[in-house]
This record gives sequence, C-alpha cells and structure tokens, in this order.
Amino acid sequence: MKKIVISTKDNSYDVLIGKGIIKKLSKELNKRKLPSSLFVIIDKNVKHKYSDLLIELGVKTKSTFVLTANEKNKTYETLQRIHKRMIEAKLVRNSLVIAIGGGITGDVGGFAASTYMRGIKYVQIPTTLLAAVDSSVGGKTGINFNNTKNIIGSFHQPALVMIDTNFFNTLPKEEIICGTGELTKYAFTTSKVFSNYFIKNLSQIISLNTTVISKVIYESIKYKGDVVANDEKETGLRKVLNFGHTFAHAIEVEQNHKIKHGQAVVAGIACALHLSNKVGLLEYEQLHSFLNIVKPLKRYVNVSNYNRNKLFSVMERDKKNDDGEIKFVLIKDVGETVIDYQVSKKDVLHSIDKGLSYFVK
Ligand SMILES: NC(=O)c1ccc[n+]([C@@H]2O[C@H](COP(=O)([O-])OP(=O)(O)OC[C@H]3O[C@@H](n4cnc5c(N)ncnc54)[C@H](O)[C@@H]3O)[C@@H](O)[C@H]2O)c1
Repeated sequence: MKKIVISTKDNSYDVLIGKGIIKKLSKELNKRKLPSSLFVIIDKNVKHKYSDLLIELGVKTKSTFVLTANEKNKTYETLQRIHKRMIEAKLVRNSLVIAIGGGITGDVGGFAASTYMRGIKYVQIPTTLLAAVDSSVGGKTGINFNNTKNIIGSFHQPALVMIDTNFFNTLPKEEIICGTGELTKYAFTTSKVFSNYFIKNLSQIISLNTTVISKVIYESIKYKGDVVANDEKETGLRKVLNFGHTFAHAIEVEQNHKIKHGQAVVAGIACALHLSNKVGLLEYEQLHSFLNIVKPLKRYVNVSNYNRNKLFSVMERDKKNDDGEIKFVLIKDVGETVIDYQVSKKDVLHSIDKGLSYFVK
C-alpha cells in the first residue's frame, strides 16, 4: 500500500493507494481515531456491483444513502434528501460521512458533510479512475445549479482517502476513458517525465494494467497534493488544474450532459491547445505534436452538432471568470502553463471549431 500525505493550512490527511486495501477501512479509521458514528453515501451502481461491501468491511452505519450518480442529479434536491436523512439518522458533529463512488458521489457527499452542522468529517473512497486521479483529493465539493457546473460548493478537505484499484475492474470502458481524460490533463501540466510515461503507456492505462494504473494514480495525486498544499483555495497556482476545463464544462452543459466530464476534458484540452497556438504561446509544430497526445482518445469521445455561440455564453458564466472576462489556462510547453489568460471572443470561437473538429462524427 502506498501513502501520500496532503497538507493544507488547517488540515493534513493521508491518501492510501493499493489493490484490495478497502478491506482495511475499519482499521484505518480506528488508527486515525475517526468517529465511529458513520453515515455512508454510496453510488447506486457500486452498491449493485458490490452488494455485500459494507457487510464485508464490517462497517456499522447509522444510515446509508444510495445515490444515482449523474450530472442531472448533482443538485440541491439531492443534497436536501441527503441532509434530511442525516437528520433522521441523528448524526452529530462527531459523526463521519463516508462517500463511496465516483466524482459525483464524492462531490455531493463532501458538500453534504461540509454543510451539515457547519461541517463534519468525511472520507473519500473513489471507485472510478477519474475520482481516484483527481476529484477525491483536494477538498473541492459541490453541486450544479442553474445550468452551471459545480457553481455551488465549498472547500472541505477529507479526513482520509482510500483508493482501492480493484474497484476499477467493474468500470465500463467509457468511465476508464473519462479517468484517462483527467490523466491527459496531468500529461500536459506536470512534467515531461510523466507526459512521456503517459504517452508510452496509454494502452496499458486503458487496459488497467495494475503497475501502470498504480503509478499514474500515485504521480497524479502527488502532483495535485503539492499544488493543493500551495494554493488550497485556488487563488493562483491551483488554477493550473483547470487546464482544458473552461471549455470542458461548457461542452458538458451545451451537450446537455450527453458527454461525460472526463470525455469533455479531452475535447476541452484540444480546444485549449488550439487557443494556445492562436494567441502565439504554442508553435504550430508543437501544437501538432501535442495534439498527437489527445488524438488517440478521439474515437472514444463524441461531440454532437454543437452551437458555438451557446458554448461561448456558457463559458461566460464560468466561476473562474473575473469582472465578466473569461480566463483561460493556456500552455507554452509541458509543465509550463499560463493562468488567467484573456483572449478575444473571435479566438475562442476559432479554437472551439478547431478543437472540436476531431470529435464531431
Ligand atoms: N472535486 C473535484 O476536484 C473534481 C475534479 C474532477 C471532476 N470532478 C467532478 O467529478 C464528476 C465526474 O466523476 P466521475 O467521472 O467519477 O463520474 P460519476 O461519479 O458519475 O461515475 C461515473 C459512472 O460510473 C459508475 N461507477 C462508479 N464506480 C463504479 C465501479 N467501481 N464500477 C462500475 N460503475 C461504477 C457510476 O454509477 C456512474 O454511472 C463530475 O461531476 C466532475 O465535475 C470533481
């Protein structure tokens, strides 16, 4: 089992990574003297595929909330239902929420924990590749509202994250691609060493080779942990993690969530690369060499006929904007990003058309 410690100003917690480690859940909770009054929020598909999971883990929960994970359910209504159940279960300040599922379960579960009684502790048990390499760490929690992704939320760090790679064996291929989408982001933002490893091992990632998967999770979380430790509330450096995401969130909304987040990230990165070239940050030859990192995934990502003006107007509502200006994370080279870059609408529209051209079939 590997361990990474994430340290923020007020908090420090462990991320444990390994095959079959979930069996040690009770032991790890006890070791950290985490509350024994538990409330579990579990993804419906995970509950279905691992029906005896909670019994096997010996977890005595005061109540279990089963969440149907999709973007349309990442809402106030779901949050209210969870809070109601928490009150019925008589959770107190010293209770613990355990979120078992993908990014949606983690985001909503974390937000429910962060808002119940002004914030109680929670543990993340990511069961998708995307949640393992990204959303389970860093403390961003939230819901969608008013057709805007993650617009209501909080920063609330988990008390523990346990990544058991065995969970990925039941993931549909589409979900493995989504995780690979977020890994593509790290392939551009971290280092040439990670980038080369990602390019070389792409097919091993998609086929869930144990060694490769463990390594990419470890490296991603290590990198994200360092970024979060330096800028927990995203005032500067952490914005790097949004590479491709301003486009991606708009694509998700414009496509009415028919495209999944991780797939939209792949398309969003292609747009961000074209935009970086259009504004002169990225040479033409480098653009094409970078697009070769994204293109192997294009057969897994479909964008239906899109309305670029609608896409642009969704971007104008992005929470990363400032004074009505859309701010982009652009790239000069692997590991050399530029944050808060403002560009003309004309250049954004150009990049949308160029970037999405690989994914419209
Ligand atoms: N908080 C953050 O920092 C952060 C970062 C990146 C993404 N996100 C958010 O994460 C969400 C996407 O997360 P996701 O891709 O994990 O989606 P998800 O939570 O919807 O899970 C994807 C699908 O996989 C199913 N599933 C989960 N685990 C499974 C398993 N082990 N076996 C079989 N099926 C399983 C789910 O039921 C669901 O249908 C988005 O809402 C995005 O905004 C948050």
